Amino acid sequence: MINVDMKEKFRPQYHFSPESNWMNDPNGMVYYAGEYHLFYQHHPYGTTWGPMHWGHAVSKDLIHWDHHPIALAPDEHGDIFSGSVVVDWNDSTGFFKGASGLVAIFTHADQYPNSDRPRQRQSLAYSTDRGRTWIKYEGNPILAEESITDFRDPKVFWHEETHKWIMILAAGNHVRFYASHNLKSWEFASEFGSQSGSHAGVWECPDIFKLPVVGVENTSKWVMIVSIGNDSAYIEGSRTQYFIGQFDGISFTNENSDDTVLWLDYGRDNYAGVTWSDISHEDGRRIFIGWMSNWKYANETPTVGWRSAVTLPRELTLKETSDGIRLIQIPVAELEKIRREKRSWNQLFIEPGKHVSLDVSGEQSEIIAEFELESATEFGIKIRKSDSEETIIGYDAVNEFLFINRINSGVTKFNEYFPCLHGASLKAENNRIKLHILVDSSSVEIFANNGQVVITDLIFPDPKSTGIELYTTNKKVKLASLVIVQLASIF
Ligand code: FRU
Repeated sequence: MINVDMKEKFRPQYHFSPESNWMNDPNGMVYYAGEYHLFYQHHPYGTTWGPMHWGHAVSKDLIHWDHHPIALAPDEHGDIFSGSVVVDWNDSTGFFKGASGLVAIFTHADQYPNSDRPRQRQSLAYSTDRGRTWIKYEGNPILAEESITDFRDPKVFWHEETHKWIMILAAGNHVRFYASHNLKSWEFASEFGSQSGSHAGVWECPDIFKLPVVGVENTSKWVMIVSIGNDSAYIEGSRTQYFIGQFDGISFTNENSDDTVLWLDYGRDNYAGVTWSDISHEDGRRIFIGWMSNWKYANETPTVGWRSAVTLPRELTLKETSDGIRLIQIPVAELEKIRREKRSWNQLFIEPGKHVSLDVSGEQSEIIAEFELESATEFGIKIRKSDSEETIIGYDAVNEFLFINRINSGVTKFNEYFPCLHGASLKAENNRIKLHILVDSSSVEIFANNGQVVITDLIFPDPKSTGIELYTTNKKVKLASLVIVQLASIF
């Protein structure tokens, strides 16, 4: 079933989602010949997780996407789990007769012969026609390790300093690094993490890249992203952490203590995210997309005919903060393309009990608010509001805590873990709290204090719940500025 108009209930209007059926992780993001490619874990014959294929979409601007036929389908080695794509600029593989081309490095998932034990091995496919068609390498699989059951999600990059391809791979409770000259044969380099960070679930979908620290001359750090799977012992479900340190072509050194846990997102719905490969040097950005769902309830979300979407592409940078160097996320500048009518307010005062409803529709919108802290203890913005529904984005000034409350956000009862309130510590900067919020048909992304803290959550409000309201619980609060921009549909 192909949906022609992409206007069904809850269908994101400016986030990528599959035309029909199931998606999970974004895969193989690569920029090549003027095009951004997005592949994704896809079950083309059902709206729940099943035999994994790689779906495919292409964009020229990271906002508008063309759907392409399935890139990789299951074969004699199994289903096609997550992985990456690189540009083989110098034909190190020999697949491209001296020219350049795209190589996908992914996990083949099946079972060990005569057993139920999952078998996960890494394989290659290549494309000589800008990703339109793919040929599986006859030497597949190229990397196996019988002693580790969870052995998947290879992310490959060219390590300039040592002139080698490096693969980072999830291996149960740690990541492993392998090195190669031709993408076909790989040598073990090192492992990291069995004692570091969060282990509230199996490690999945790692990524690693180098970023300059903004404002600190000649200082770059390596950022390692590691998603951790759902575990019934934790209400948060699946989520993503990161590490900051150094990588020398062989091993990663964590610059924080083993027990430091850095969360990439404090919402419930940003998982298995990784970054684009081969963005040009002139552009120089590191761009991230995550899957906007959670393994706690991903198979149960209330959509019909299609399921799941990805976050808006985000630019990642590093910044020195009072807590140390932290990852900063902001929506990509290309969002500009779909900005429409804009309303602005300055110096708005909100009184307790007198909630300020704004006469703008907030179905697909961008809200940029700067609150000035006075004596109010809790204030914020209610979005997708009607008489019976609201999603509250609030700041608890006493506990310095930014939160989202989706308990009455709309359809919530499909899973007991969905209706919830959660958030993150956030300190005022110059006595101000800045919120940059992206609202779509079934999601909210909150970038606080210029992207230092991010909360991404799914919500399933009635299409008619479009109100936006400002509130304070006890004392007057001052909104130094507020901008609300309508965002156009990409369809
Ligand atoms: C993460 C994940 C990956 C795996 C894929 C299977 O969400 O579990 O580890 O490759 O999904 O669809």
